[in-house]
Amino acid sequence: EAYAEIYRDQPVHLQYHNHLDLGSLGEVPESHAWPPLDNYSSSVEPVPVIDLTDPEAVKLVGHACRTWGVFQVTNHGISMRLLKDVESESWRLFSLPPQQKLKAARSPDGISGYGLARISSFFPKLMWSEGFTIVESPVEHARQLWPQDYSNFCAVMEEYQNEMKQLAERLLWLVLGSLGINKKDIIWAGPKGDFGDASAALHLNSYPPCPEPNRAMGLAAHTDSTLLTILYQNSTSGLQVLRDGAGWVTVPPLAGGLVVNIGDLLHILSNGEYRTVLHRAVVNRTHHRLSIVYFSGPPTNVQISPLSRLVPPLYRPVTWTEYLGAKAKHFNNALSSIRL
Ligand code: SIN
Ligand code: FE2
Repeated sequence: EAYAEIYRDQPVHLQYHNHLDLGSLGEVPESHAWPPLDNYSSSVEPVPVIDLTDPEAVKLVGHACRTWGVFQVTNHGISMRLLKDVESESWRLFSLPPQQKLKAARSPDGISGYGLARISSFFPKLMWSEGFTIVESPVEHARQLWPQDYSNFCAVMEEYQNEMKQLAERLLWLVLGSLGINKKDIIWAGPKGDFGDASAALHLNSYPPCPEPNRAMGLAAHTDSTLLTILYQNSTSGLQVLRDGAGWVTVPPLAGGLVVNIGDLLHILSNGEYRTVLHRAVVNRTHHRLSIVYFSGPPTNVQISPLSRLVPPLYRPVTWTEYLGAKAKHFNNALSSIRL
């Protein structure tokens, strides 16, 4: 175990992960072996796909939020060129040797940088994935990965962050519009309907092929602590959402499409009318999967509470920061912990 030597001084969870180069293993080790996956749904109904230029978009978004909590969008204005660039820069990152990636390791209590799935601490087994999180500027960690050659990665990620910020705003207004909320009801929106200080994070996920996909978990079931999440997946499927009465439904990759899902804060804001959606990522035997996830939230100091039109309020007001504290403590029960 040559790597064991190199990583002796790393925090335990990183040591554990990184002397295992997941893509090269012939079987799933005990550390990564989950109970056999509960299987796929037989649902024939597909996750809704919405063309954002459709004049009926508000109505379609409202229906999708009410019935699914997740939908895919097309004609969203993000160019195929940019999606491909983000994909190839992400490959470039995950293809680096393990010891190089570890130079940008997330600190144990930090958010940005390279490491295990952030929800790993809630589960007894490790997941079949690795990730890289960017909050605000990617420069610091990118320099650790490529001291001479970080600028293209940064330029691409920054462009993507800017485009996603705008798309998230546009989607949020569609969602709020579908609830009958207009711009003046959202006190934290700027004069032009922008969410000036909105906070966000960009997260890259890599899921190597797995010799025994039914015994492994790419990313365990969770809900997002966001208002909205916008996800791009490469041509390999893996994302599943839990649908009432239908079980785990796959969200199939759609060329150039983006997946949008409701997060816990929108659940609170809509007083539970739009429910946050439980989702997970599964892995497969032959294809290396990538996902690029944009987490969109309100400014961190703004209190989110059920919109006053929606009574009686079911949740107490929380800032995003407070909510993340509840999530760290209660994980998938965080919403119940703030119920009135
Ligand atoms: C996520 O939930 O953050 C990612 C899921 C996926 O990779 O599809
Ligand atoms: Fe998620």
